Amino acid sequence: MTGLLAAAVVLTAPRWLPARVVALRVKVFEKVNGDDAITFPNARVGPDRFLEVYAHPAANGRSRGAGLSDLFWYWLAPGPEVHQEHLEAGPRYDDVARTTRALLSGPGDALSEAAARCAGRVLDELVTGRVTAVRLRDLMLPVWAEYFHELVFGEPCTREARELVVGHADDVVTALKCTGLRHPGRRARLTRYLARRVAAGDARRPLPATLTPAERVHYLQGTFFNTAVVQMSEAMAHLLLALAQHPDEAARLAADPGDERHFANVLDETMRLYPLFGIAHRITTGDIALDERTTLPAGSVLCFNYPEYHATGHDRPEVFDPSRWERVPAREAHHIPFGVAANRPCPAWRVSPLALRAATGEVLRRFTLHSTVAHTRSLPSRGPCLLVRVGEPLPARRLAVLGALLRARDRWEDVWLSAVQLVLGTVMVLHARRLRLAGRYFDTPGCPRPPHTQETTE
Ligand code: HEM
Repeated sequence: MTGLLAAAVVLTAPRWLPARVVALRVKVFEKVNGDDAITFPNARVGPDRFLEVYAHPAANGRSRGAGLSDLFWYWLAPGPEVHQEHLEAGPRYDDVARTTRALLSGPGDALSEAAARCAGRVLDELVTGRVTAVRLRDLMLPVWAEYFHELVFGEPCTREARELVVGHADDVVTALKCTGLRHPGRRARLTRYLARRVAAGDARRPLPATLTPAERVHYLQGTFFNTAVVQMSEAMAHLLLALAQHPDEAARLAADPGDERHFANVLDETMRLYPLFGIAHRITTGDIALDERTTLPAGSVLCFNYPEYHATGHDRPEVFDPSRWERVPAREAHHIPFGVAANRPCPAWRVSPLALRAATGEVLRRFTLHSTVAHTRSLPSRGPCLLVRVGEPLPARRLAVLGALLRARDRWEDVWLSAVQLVLGTVMVLHARRLRLAGRYFDTPGCPRPPHTQETTE
């Protein structure tokens, strides 16, 4: 009897375990946030006032005073104290933000052409068969490693440099998703490479004058060889997985790659359902009065929930339907895939859609995409997918069998990954709490110039 019960528990695990583990993880992270955290939209501040609070001038603190910062700095080490995303407002932030904008700027045609070239080169090198099983995120990491290397140094990326960048970006995103621990040694190898390039004056634009030479290296590593590479690879993984599961949309894009409007709708719909930020947070640096009775005091941690906000104001928000953007212009919807213009939006707001479109065109020119796996926002599976070469289609029955196998493996992998995420997430939360990288930094008299830049690697 006990044996039967145990067997039933194990066999039904894919149905109940992942959701329970996600709920438990949310609880662990809520604990890290502490009691001062408030998540929006909520019953008092609904979606109609979400942007007003997000864009409030007092909602501009980034790292100081939030328990969560220790965890984010831990995941982004080395160099989180000079990562644009984590810098407090002030002259250093302005200098860094200006440099990022300069490095990301350029004629649209050239930015698109470089993305197509990098994507084409990587695809031709890594996907050679008639049918290839890939993890979309893994396939895209080298594409964006090459792209951002070219953008920063103005020259093609060597194989050695690509491996360093991919190793580092993969390590950061794997730790962020709690599916693996950090490997500071892997990250340090990229730091050494970048230090050589920066010392030789190889960057295409002047680096922030307000940073020390070591900080400039960490700034490049964090913003371009972590955030840029990871975000673009994640965005592509979501986009291609959505296309794999909506073949009509994929066929329409493949048939008319010049249809910019349709691509924009598909991208908007993908980013609406699977925004790259689950929650973005700010720490208030002054009071925010909501009404006569309610004030958010200075020092509050405000958490802006993207998926929840994106789900409001639409019919059937759970359905992937790019055509909804033909009826509702994105600027009039509850839609902020790149953040809010008034409060530290994404500096790659312009370049990302151009580059994603060019790279997607290269994929669809070569392959049709097929996937039966669960598509979730955090996508710990890294997007398993079959690429079938255009012009060499598979018989429908063989495709159905491969699809069934993919789905079965994905369901069981989900159980395993949920358990891994719970254990490793807890380990990293505790380790980050012990290291207290952000807390120690802000405790140091005379910060923002920290005495410890190297210790942040461990
Ligand atoms: C499709 C791709 C991308 C999406 C959807 C995306 C999304 C976002 C969002 C929503 C924010 C604002 C979060 C907040 O309010 O705290 C943000 C910030 C940021 N993003 Fe992106 N991003 C993408 C690609 C990139 C790329 C390619 C870079 C390259 C450098 C980049 C660098 C940054 C930085 C540095 C910030 C912090 C801005 C600041 O605090 O001043 N992102 N991104």
